[in-house]
Amino acid sequence: MNACMRAVTRHGLHRGLQVFGVREGYDGLIRGDLVRLSARDVGNVIQRGGTVLGSSRSREFRTPAGREAAARSLQDAAIDGLVVCGGNGTCAGALALAEQWSGGIIAIPASIDNDINGTDTTVGYDTAINTALEAIDRIRDTAEAQERIFLVEVMGRGCGAIALDVALAGGAVAALVPEAPVDLDALLRLLTTWRDAGRRSMIIIVAEGEEHGGAFEVARRLQPHVPTDIRVTVLGHIQRGGAPTAASRILATRLGVAAVDALLDGATSVMVGLKGNQVTLVPLHEAVAAQRPADAAMLQIIGGLAG
Ligand code: F6P
Repeated sequence: MNACMRAVTRHGLHRGLQVFGVREGYDGLIRGDLVRLSARDVGNVIQRGGTVLGSSRSREFRTPAGREAAARSLQDAAIDGLVVCGGNGTCAGALALAEQWSGGIIAIPASIDNDINGTDTTVGYDTAINTALEAIDRIRDTAEAQERIFLVEVMGRGCGAIALDVALAGGAVAALVPEAPVDLDALLRLLTTWRDAGRRSMIIIVAEGEEHGGAFEVARRLQPHVPTDIRVTVLGHIQRGGAPTAASRILATRLGVAAVDALLDGATSVMVGLKGNQVTLVPLHEAVAAQRPADAAMLQIIGGLAG
């Protein structure tokens, strides 16, 4: 998100605009917490995780009164265009704000979940899967040393994209994702025959979510049928931080520049996304219409490579 903010600021200045940052996301917009940004203000942030402006999951912005207050802040500061950067909630909020404010609004999809319609990938996703992958490689060392089975739970809030990609890249034998029913029998077959197959360790990736109750619950159901101790690691919020990868910085920068250009071209209520490595504009209502599911067909590939 810092790389996005830097690109929007510097490209906006380059195109002759005055640029303001909003502190603490929609909460800050409601309070009118705007700060004028210069090129120097966004220096030395491209390599930093999180956002130096702060962010919020604003409850107040979900109310019409909150959005009216946000619209007033923008009017009072004579703002013509707004670029928001965030996930499904941010995009839905931007669409709702467009009903109360007549300026141009462009959204940049930023989420570790990669679950936003209309873009192949989201800002931060590559960083999150690389962080998860590094952890899984480390877990594999101990699993292999001690002949263990590990269930590793990754984030994704209803979307199995992180789970599928890190399972594939981390050499896991299976992934449990919300997009496909959990086949406990198939898992048990793997778990009871793993040593016969000459393996010393096994890693199974579990996407967080209600459907299967999470990695601890899956382990609780499997353990009685398996002679080896199953260990569980929940990666949690470490997936949301840290220095962004090159791919995340490049995507953030390309979309930030495109967002400014789109505003100056008069676009509004659109999201800038990436399709086949081309920057595209997607109507915001399409972006928020439904959560993009992960490609469950990858499960067959992962299963076929389990060996
Ligand atoms: O949407 C991004 C995400 O990291 C999800 O993967 C996760 O479920 C959620 O946010 C965690 O949010 P919070 O920190 O508010 O609990």
